[in-house]
Amino acid sequence: MSQSYDIAVIAGDGVGPEVVREGLRVLEATAARFGFGIHLTQYPYGTEHWLATEEIFPDSATSEIVDQDAILLGAIGDPRAPVGLIERGVIGHLRWDLDLYVNLRPIKLYHERFCPLKDKTPADIDMVVVRENTEDAYVQKPVFENQGEPDEVATQAMRYTRAGTERIIRYAFDIAMARPRKELLLIDKANAVRAQDLYTRVFAEVAEEYPEVKTDHAYIDAACMWMIKNPEWFDVAVTTNLFGDILTDVGAMIQGGMGVAASANVHPGQLGLFEPIHGSFPKATGQNTANPLATIAAVAMMFEYLGEKEAATAVDNAVVGLLKSGAVTSLKAGAYGTDELGDMVLAELQR
Ligand code: IPM
Ligand code: MG
Repeated sequence: MSQSYDIAVIAGDGVGPEVVREGLRVLEATAARFGFGIHLTQYPYGTEHWLATEEIFPDSATSEIVDQDAILLGAIGDPRAPVGLIERGVIGHLRWDLDLYVNLRPIKLYHERFCPLKDKTPADIDMVVVRENTEDAYVQKPVFENQGEPDEVATQAMRYTRAGTERIIRYAFDIAMARPRKELLLIDKANAVRAQDLYTRVFAEVAEEYPEVKTDHAYIDAACMWMIKNPEWFDVAVTTNLFGDILTDVGAMIQGGMGVAASANVHPGQLGLFEPIHGSFPKATGQNTANPLATIAAVAMMFEYLGEKEAATAVDNAVVGLLKSGAVTSLKAGAYGTDELGDMVLAELQR
């Protein structure tokens, strides 16, 4: 066997284990077909593990994981834990402590039957959102002064560094350069959040090094509107952490829903974390109703990042082929069994 990869698997909460199970079936079948090895290490972190042990994510696991080639994550979040504790302790920890500064979120419509927008076709919806992944209010300490009192003040700052801003903007320019349209849109709210003037200035500076890239700017509120009204205007967009989080949920909807939206958290040259962008959907736990296609699409992104281009293309083609074939008419949870969709992708892979 020419090559072998060590993959850390964190199935997580809610429907995470079900969608990851299907993702792994596709991952292993594809590796076998293209002749590379996969060594999986499953990690139990998530709410169940925290309830049983009070442990969120031990340092020993972090140091083990950094030596691996990639991480596949299902979903984190469960109402039995305090809001945000496990999300921040697992997803946040991995993104921030491994410095995975790029959150890459492709938004691609595979067939018009899945689009809630009137008269939009796959030719209109094919974009990539490059979300900054290590800064912003996400990583700032919340401060509550006079908690519970009438004069309470709660603060959590939006903080951006020049280095953090520059590296994400540069990454986005590189992505734009690699695409036929070569267009890059900066999305911010610099008219209200004046700290984001840093994004405005750094974007203009870096743009000078990429004369072939056509640049544009939109405020986040308008960008949400344009994404629904004229998604064909978007090619590559770069934005801050919080706005990227919000905008890509809009993006997921126009590409057919949370069932298909995948993402990659990366830092070039280091291991990446690949996950569906949907949450843990606690109410659906164990019911075999969650759509695993987003996780399977995340596996394709993982292969791409590992340099297994043929495997990435095969998985992508299997998902696209399935969605184009008419065999799948709805991407909503419950429309098909989680395992049934996994079977369909596996069958498509064999074709
Ligand atoms: C996402 C999620 C996370 C985020 C949550 C679970 C903290 O919504 O990956 O988009 O806000 O980044
Ligand atoms: Mg989100």
